[in-house]
Amino acid sequence: MKVLLSILAAATVLVQTVTSDSFVKATGTKFTLNNQPFYFEGSNAYYLMTASQQQVQDVYTAAKQLHLPVMRTWIFNLGTNNVWFQQWNSATKTMTINDDATTGLGRMDYVIQQAQAAGIKLILTLTNNWSDYGGMDYYTTNFGGTYHDQFYTQANIIASYKAYISHVLNRNNTLTGVLYKNDPTIFGWELANEPRCGGSGGIPASSSCNTNVIYNWVNDISSYIKSIDTNHLVAIGDEGFFNHTGTSEYVYDGGPGIDFDANLKLSSIDFGTFHLYPEGWGYGTNDTWVLQWISDHVASQNAIGKPVILEEYGMSTDALRAAHYPVWHSLMESSGLAADAFWELGISSQAGLDANTIYPTDATVNVTVVNHALAMLAKNGGSTTTTTTASTTGTTTTTTSSVPITTTTKTTTTKTTTTSTTTTTT
Ligand SMILES: *[C@@H]1O[C@H](CO)[C@@H](O)[C@H](O)[C@H]1NC(C)=O
Ligand SMILES: *[C@@H]1O[C@H](CO)[C@@H](O)[C@H](O)[C@H]1NC(C)=O
Ligand SMILES: *[C@@H]1O[C@H](CO)[C@@H](O)[C@H](O)[C@H]1NC(C)=O
Ligand SMILES: *[C@@H]1O[C@H](CO)[C@@H](O)[C@H](O)[C@H]1NC(C)=O
Ligand SMILES: *[C@@H]1O[C@H](CO)[C@@H](O)[C@H](O)[C@H]1NC(C)=O
Repeated sequence: MKVLLSILAAATVLVQTVTSDSFVKATGTKFTLNNQPFYFEGSNAYYLMTASQQQVQDVYTAAKQLHLPVMRTWIFNLGTNNVWFQQWNSATKTMTINDDATTGLGRMDYVIQQAQAAGIKLILTLTNNWSDYGGMDYYTTNFGGTYHDQFYTQANIIASYKAYISHVLNRNNTLTGVLYKNDPTIFGWELANEPRCGGSGGIPASSSCNTNVIYNWVNDISSYIKSIDTNHLVAIGDEGFFNHTGTSEYVYDGGPGIDFDANLKLSSIDFGTFHLYPEGWGYGTNDTWVLQWISDHVASQNAIGKPVILEEYGMSTDALRAAHYPVWHSLMESSGLAADAFWELGISSQAGLDANTIYPTDATVNVTVVNHALAMLAKNGGSTTTTTTASTTGTTTTTTSSVPITTTTKTTTTKTTTTSTTTTTT
């Protein structure tokens, strides 16, 4: 393990010299950066918003070690803990936004500044279907709603959510002086983590919620973001459920309220997102099903002509990950899928992360992460070169690239994914 750490340290130094200040673009079915293809494996670290500054740095160090140039994280935190970005004010019946550098949104200034310094791009998600860190049900219940899906339809909730979006996009980073909407460190915005008709907060879905309700909401909110910010890519952050007829599989039948293809065709949506938790969704360890799920999303990517990211996937033990991820990765690499990001990157100081978490010190980390991360970067052709460099342990070969290379790590106590019709969060 000591050897590994030394080698990784050498790779990190090399990578740190690579910076990019361009916006990521969607070009046909792939992402591009500086006019070069930008295939990548990334990861998630939802907890950056509440992490200490040291932990933020540790996550980025880990991401670079593992060659992960993109990290997905939350830019919401409603009324919880000592950190809150928004809180219900029962006197004014509005949401108060907290810009404080220690307890509020100002914390994200550091998260973004340090990502830029590390050469990492951030996918930032603006709210949560789940009740973790507030999420949709925090809006819905405070605004007097009865159903989870009133988040998508009730005018004063939509206005409040848009006001938060406008505030975030127009925020001037106190550490860099760059408005968030003008910052190329940000890969793109996502409307919500795993939007569905139903939530996890104890209030039910109404009988009128369906794919058209969320489709209309996606159209409205993504257009609103585009009206403020023309620099950044916009996506949903959903699980990628299909709305097919003649099936009773809930991930294919539109039941949760998502129509992957219809949503991706919206002009204000730049790339598609999907998730993958075969155990939690009732498919166990069935790789045949997994490979079909990936193939079906690549087919949509190619038919609609926009890149698609498998932006969350997980299995619950290290042994399962080591046995199955290489099979999945092989298809991701060969199929033309634009990118992927596993759930999620852990660091040792972050307690309470869920069973899907991968740590840079895991004995299987090459098999579960690094081999695939390098294979994705290798698809970027001329923008990737191989360099030999000396480390304290001898000579090692590292890959450097004109695209940022990163690693992520993070642990969290709550999670937002996974699940079948019941869905769980931790
Ligand atoms: C952002 O803040 C910096 C100083 O921190 C200032 O120079 C700059 O003008 C501000 N940008 C805008 C658009 O207000
Ligand atoms: C979204 O949250 C609702 C309630 O908070 C829950 O019933 C539903 O299963 C969640 N869906 C997902 C995909 O997390
Ligand atoms: C989902 O499929 C149903 C049945 O074909 C259709 O009525 C509905 O409009 C579709 N949803 C979207 C968002 O297109
Ligand atoms: C695995 O998934 C495939 C594709 O959905 C299905 O045809 C097959 O029956 C599944 N196998 C098992 C053992 O469930
Ligand atoms: C991962 O791969 C590197 C480079 O090939 C190697 O030096 C290291 O020992 C491997 N790590 C583990 C944990 O196998």
